[in-house]
Amino acid sequence: MKITLIGAGYVGLVTGTCLAEVGNNVLCLDVDPHKIATLKSGGIPIYEPGLEDMVRRNVAAGRLDFTTDIAAAVQFGDIQFIAVGTPPDEDGSADLQYVLDAARNIGRHMNGFKLVVDKSTVPVGTADRVRATIAETLASRGLEVDFCVASNPEFLKEGAAINDFMSPDRIVIGTDSERATQLLRRLYAPFQRNHERLVVMDVRSAELTKYAANAMLATRISFMNELALLAEKLGADIERVRQGIGSDPRIGYHFLYAGCGYGGSCFPKDVQALRRTAREYGAPLRILDAVETANEAQKRILVEKLKSRFGAQLDGRRFALWGLAFKPNTDDMREAPSRVIMEALWAMGATVAAYDPVAMPETRRLYGEHPSLMLAPHPMDALRDADALLIVTEWKAFRSADFAAMKALLRQPVIFDGRNLYDPATMRREGFEYFPIGRQA
Ligand code: NAI
Repeated sequence: MKITLIGAGYVGLVTGTCLAEVGNNVLCLDVDPHKIATLKSGGIPIYEPGLEDMVRRNVAAGRLDFTTDIAAAVQFGDIQFIAVGTPPDEDGSADLQYVLDAARNIGRHMNGFKLVVDKSTVPVGTADRVRATIAETLASRGLEVDFCVASNPEFLKEGAAINDFMSPDRIVIGTDSERATQLLRRLYAPFQRNHERLVVMDVRSAELTKYAANAMLATRISFMNELALLAEKLGADIERVRQGIGSDPRIGYHFLYAGCGYGGSCFPKDVQALRRTAREYGAPLRILDAVETANEAQKRILVEKLKSRFGAQLDGRRFALWGLAFKPNTDDMREAPSRVIMEALWAMGATVAAYDPVAMPETRRLYGEHPSLMLAPHPMDALRDADALLIVTEWKAFRSADFAAMKALLRQPVIFDGRNLYDPATMRREGFEYFPIGRQA
């Protein structure tokens, strides 16, 4: 099949590449000429394990290409995926300007039947707006061309995106037309594996499903984070509690880890957008108000612990920070807890020596040559003469650490662990002042 991806970001690029991998012809369109130039020259603008090889292979096979030419891209694909960003507006609702731009462009350049698929995370009712926008644009050209609009939200996780796309738990399709359903069934047939993965429903339910999934996951995290604070005060251990409740199949083990807050390009904005929709329709999701408030506080939890230990005047102090990306295996720093933490430390007069296996170029892009930020080439270099270490992202490489070497480098053997990587009893034995989340220090 011939497919156009509008937007070649995390979702668009992964979707396009995986669809090419199973034999489709894919053209990825982006309005960012630098992104397209990088892709055209064989580079990958984002860090995503396995993606570079897969892009290269499919480009070489002639199944995958990139362009900034809107007309050519729209004319290319029988299926047009809209995978542009939907960042939060000032009031928290999803900003649909890029989605509607894409819809206008489709209407402006389409020359025959198109199935338009919303893959971006969009509020309920967006497919109707996309349909109306295309219809208006077509009408202004004096044309009547047949098209369908479907919803196909994406559930991939950055850092595991290829595997998530190639072996999905489920593929949610929202349509109101048999033609669209059949086309999408055909498109996704190679991803079905051993049992039916397609969950076909009406468009509005599909749009809501994506928000419901992210809001549910964010709720689990905030619940565990607040429970961790209580566990600390009660002399209990959140890790034990996690195991105790996770073993119940009704609860399960996933997304039960207490930590220093969730970030990323999805949970914060999707929780905000769903809250906004819920208020607008008079069915407020009060539980999400608490989820968001709890997470804002949780992103500062390491700073609060650090203030209790070192005070609020941090002039002349230096802190090491391990992990800048919002989670491991990505260089994405959108809404990352590391940013809240670094900015709070700077505001109190401290300097930061940070290390991340892949997100340091992104950190430079965001903060430039910040006078209070040193980026260390190796995790151990960040520790030299630091008053304490803060662990913010649970990269695997941090799990097995050389505690003796760490102690020798740090000015004081103090660790604030926002991801509970180490066993508190071991840390005590090793002579550290260790501050985990929800466990006894
Ligand atoms: P992104 O910001 O990485 O990529 C969006 C791309 O769209 C950018 O490269 C931008 O230049 C391009 N763009 C904007 N307007 C355009 C237009 N009119 N025509 C062509 N290109 C245009 O965003 P990301 O992370 O890929 O997210 C896209 C959507 O997918 C969002 O709605 C997001 O919520 C959703 N999503 C993201 C996931 C993630 O892990 N990043 C997972 C699941 C859904």
